[in-house]
Amino acid sequence: MSGPRIAILGGNSAIGVAVARRYADRKARVVLVGRDLAALERDRADLLVRGAAQVELQQADFAALDGLSEVAQAAWSAFGGLDVALVAYGSLPDQAACAASADTAAAALALNFNSPALLVGELANHFEAQRAGVIAAISSVAGDRGRQSNYVYGAAKGGLQRFLEGLRHRLHAAGVAVLDIRPGFVSTPMTAHLPQGGPLWATPEKVAGDVVAAIDRRKAVLYTPWFWRFILLIVTSLPRPIFHKSKL
Ligand SMILES: NC(=O)c1ccc[n+]([C@@H]2O[C@H](COP(=O)([O-])OP(=O)(O)OC[C@H]3O[C@@H](n4cnc5c(N)ncnc54)[C@H](OP(=O)(O)O)[C@@H]3O)[C@@H](O)[C@H]2O)c1
Repeated sequence: MSGPRIAILGGNSAIGVAVARRYADRKARVVLVGRDLAALERDRADLLVRGAAQVELQQADFAALDGLSEVAQAAWSAFGGLDVALVAYGSLPDQAACAASADTAAAALALNFNSPALLVGELANHFEAQRAGVIAAISSVAGDRGRQSNYVYGAAKGGLQRFLEGLRHRLHAAGVAVLDIRPGFVSTPMTAHLPQGGPLWATPEKVAGDVVAAIDRRKAVLYTPWFWRFILLIVTSLPRPIFHKSKL
């Protein structure tokens, strides 16, 4: 007997791979979608060794917005429907470069907002017709309040949070859950250039465990690790005069 059918859009992202491994333990059928086929091949071999029933690979550039409908259709068709779709790609743009160049900012906004929002929207039409399943997408705690150090990325992630919120409202009647995943600092290639370590940093494996539990429970919003919920409660509650004195 095969386990659940899951598509990971951003199939070789560190968090996406860690989630895929959890599903391999459940003998899942997995679709990995990404642009680096050689990396996806390595992930496929790893997942099959770990117990995945089947792993399909699909190549896609998520920055190509006009191809997203086909990307969603292909992922949906691999196993004749999906139980879970996880949108797990993105980039961490340099805020100063975005402030200096509208083209750089536009590319960052497109990859971190337009693309995942449009892709999730395409997937939603399939899930809604099926009347079952879970759509999950990784936003970020950075989307909760605009800050001088990363407001282009934060705006994209905040926009994605609102999009998921509206989609969740729409899909409630169809019995489809929509999960907004908000990690804090996670040690992955995306953050490899930052000083790491200390209690605020989590591993992709820790985040993946939280993500799988939240999908199982059909949660709406996940802060991971859990303490970020309280950190963001404080950050979003700070009165503006105090907030503006900070270097966040
Ligand atoms: N790490 C953190 O601290 C953190 C915190 C909050 C939220 N997040 C979010 O978590 C998600 C996963 O990131 P991660 O931390 O796991 O980092 P990661 O391992 O660097 O993953 C990012 C992925 O995005 C893919 N990607 C970027 N542009 C693409 C494009 N145009 N077409 C296809 N794939 C593209 C990359 O593919 P390639 O390998 O081919 O480049 C890579 O697999 C992202 O949405 C990120 O914003 C991360």
